[in-house]
Amino acid sequence: MTPSRSRVRIALLAVCLLLPSSSGGEEPVSAEQLARDPHRPAYHFLPPKNWMNDPNGLIQIKGKYHIFYQHNPSAAVWGNMTWGHAVSEDMVHWKHLPFALHPDQPYDKGGVFSGCMVNDNGVATAVYTGVSPEVQCIATSRDMLKWEKFAGNPVIPGPPPGMKVTGFRDPCVWKQDGVWHMVVGSGIEGKGGTILLYKSKDLRQWDYIGPALVGDKDKTGPMWECPSFFPLGDKWILVISPYRPPIYMIGTFKEDHFTPELQGDVDLGGQFYAPLLFKDERERLIMFGWLQEAREKAEKAGWQGAQSLPRVITLGPDSRPRYAPAPEVNALRGEHARVEHVSVAPDSSGHVPGLRGNTLDLVAEIDPGEAETCGLVVCRSPDGAEQTRIFYDRKQKRLVGDRTKSSTNPAPKKDAPSAPLELAPGEPLRLRVLVDRSVIEVFANERTCLTLRIYPDRPDSTGVDCFATGGPCTVKSLDGWQMKSIWSDAKP
Ligand code: FRU
Repeated sequence: MTPSRSRVRIALLAVCLLLPSSSGGEEPVSAEQLARDPHRPAYHFLPPKNWMNDPNGLIQIKGKYHIFYQHNPSAAVWGNMTWGHAVSEDMVHWKHLPFALHPDQPYDKGGVFSGCMVNDNGVATAVYTGVSPEVQCIATSRDMLKWEKFAGNPVIPGPPPGMKVTGFRDPCVWKQDGVWHMVVGSGIEGKGGTILLYKSKDLRQWDYIGPALVGDKDKTGPMWECPSFFPLGDKWILVISPYRPPIYMIGTFKEDHFTPELQGDVDLGGQFYAPLLFKDERERLIMFGWLQEAREKAEKAGWQGAQSLPRVITLGPDSRPRYAPAPEVNALRGEHARVEHVSVAPDSSGHVPGLRGNTLDLVAEIDPGEAETCGLVVCRSPDGAEQTRIFYDRKQKRLVGDRTKSSTNPAPKKDAPSAPLELAPGEPLRLRVLVDRSVIEVFANERTCLTLRIYPDRPDSTGVDCFATGGPCTVKSLDGWQMKSIWSDAKP
């Protein structure tokens, strides 16, 4: 072997050693390891293994709920974007189905990116972004199992000619007055995020109408990913993901223009992104969002990403959204414990000794009284070294999720994300806290959501408590249920 050949061999070997294996640079993680993983959620949807990001193609059709999702079938890192697929009777218990859409065509070989699903006279039609470059495509199915990509794809071969855009993806489609409408997530260079409006009679031939709304890049970012645009009460709601926590806008949609009247944050926990809305057969507006990981080297676990629980969105009397977990989630409730009328002195503990666990549904009604902060402690180790606090801060008028002590391990994020929450005089703090191992979803008074990812290191970090600082508060009631796994035979 000549010296140059052996150098090539050494170089090749080095490349092979550096190449990622199926879990993204780590040894593949076995199904048993995944099943034993104490941080893998038990009642939030996730694929059997590997990477997942955005929810896609949410639909209820012929009674059944379908979720599709951005998936890398071969590694626990982003890549090979494929539409994973699962079906459910109730949006809570899921059955995995074969992957629906693979990046196998010239127009989508760079990835089958996010999109939606519509019911075209009984034919399920996926409208998605094919990459590269970003183009809009469709695929149809009559049985939700065999998917056929349209021979005339892409149906929209690129952004409007001459327009300099920051992206062109994640179509949201609906039918209005007999005409299909589509908004595509985009951004006009130098101006800001935008949704571009198209119309069609048959989902195949699309006319560009114009931007339905252009944002200001300094306020709502240069690019709007994953727009969801739906009627809500007598208004419309637009939800966008501008490379930072998603934003909602409520307003009117007239003559092809959306005029926002109100704006707010959907979930400021920092790990909730790319939410997708859909209307089910009962006309409920429902949102799922991608729950990102919040720890270093997350790919080592062999999986990354979960979906939120289904959140039902309604319009409050103040024309702002209200969020509640779909009532179907209650079917997972098992063993129950309750405390009532507990007076919580500042900095005291041990108020709920009979309740422990890391898959819990907690419903609390708290009168803040004189307290400066008051709320719940979850995932607490007996010595308090590990604990996560969820509380109302009266002065700051915020709901806080404090995960600075959630784990003694240095890898997970240690911060205290918060979101605006102002209680009216005499209004109790109504908390719904859904703990599912590394996922915590918090709903406060149905108006403020905060999703946290936490990774306690200790198996005994399962305690629940109430707390107050600066003065006493009264826990009028606290109900806690042990939650069951959504997978019939334990875990996926
Ligand atoms: C949002 C997003 C989408 C895109 C997809 C790719 O998380 O970046 O804009 O379609 O993920 O996986």
